[in-house]
Amino acid sequence: MLIFLDTADINSIKKGIEYYPIAGVTTNPTIIARENKDYVELLKDIGGVIGKDKMLHIQVLGTTAENIVKEANFIKDSIGGNIYIKIPVIKEGIKAIKILKKKGFNITATAIFTPQQALVAALAGADFVAPYVNRLDNISGDGVNVIREIKKLFDIYKLNTKILAASFKNVEQVHKSSLEGAHAVTLSLEVLENLLYHPLTDSSIKTFIEDWETTYNQTEFIK
Ligand code: E4P
Repeated sequence: MLIFLDTADINSIKKGIEYYPIAGVTTNPTIIARENKDYVELLKDIGGVIGKDKMLHIQVLGTTAENIVKEANFIKDSIGGNIYIKIPVIKEGIKAIKILKKKGFNITATAIFTPQQALVAALAGADFVAPYVNRLDNISGDGVNVIREIKKLFDIYKLNTKILAASFKNVEQVHKSSLEGAHAVTLSLEVLENLLYHPLTDSSIKTFIEDWETTYNQTEFIK
């Protein structure tokens, strides 16, 4: 299981990689636009913070295969690093995935809402597919079931493409996606930190320290 940070906020990324086992950063046009900065400089800065051993997923905006390929080349030349090109699963996107895979690009197929979209993207050569769990849940769909069915299809056909489950708003969505065998999840720092939160953990630690202090008149192990 890989954990990605789904943000372009440099401070969240610095804090995330300082504390947690992070495999990389995912972005999309909305996430980048939220920062309201020069996007090439911002993406270079993110690449500098995470280093070349972590993946950086950057989404194209083109809606024709020709433009998607141009944008992928621009991203590779101007930003570089351990880049994965995120391509939406429209018809032109699938064509672009086939072209870019032959050129050696790493690809994440994105904006996935059905198992068949994921299957076509995987057969075209995508390294990751990114189904959006919360956006489905929000329209009375079942995001976790889409993960389950993608996993089943990939297992049946022995495909190496990984499921990078995305669009999470709470811990339960992440937990259920993990149980279905999602190979990766991409999370905001807030949702990631909530994976650790439990009031009984906090109260247990408080009691441990109080008991120690009562006996030893100190709050730490080292005297
Ligand atoms: C990642 O690939 C997606 O772009 C992202 O997780 C979407 O998240 P949202 O539904 O919270 O915008």
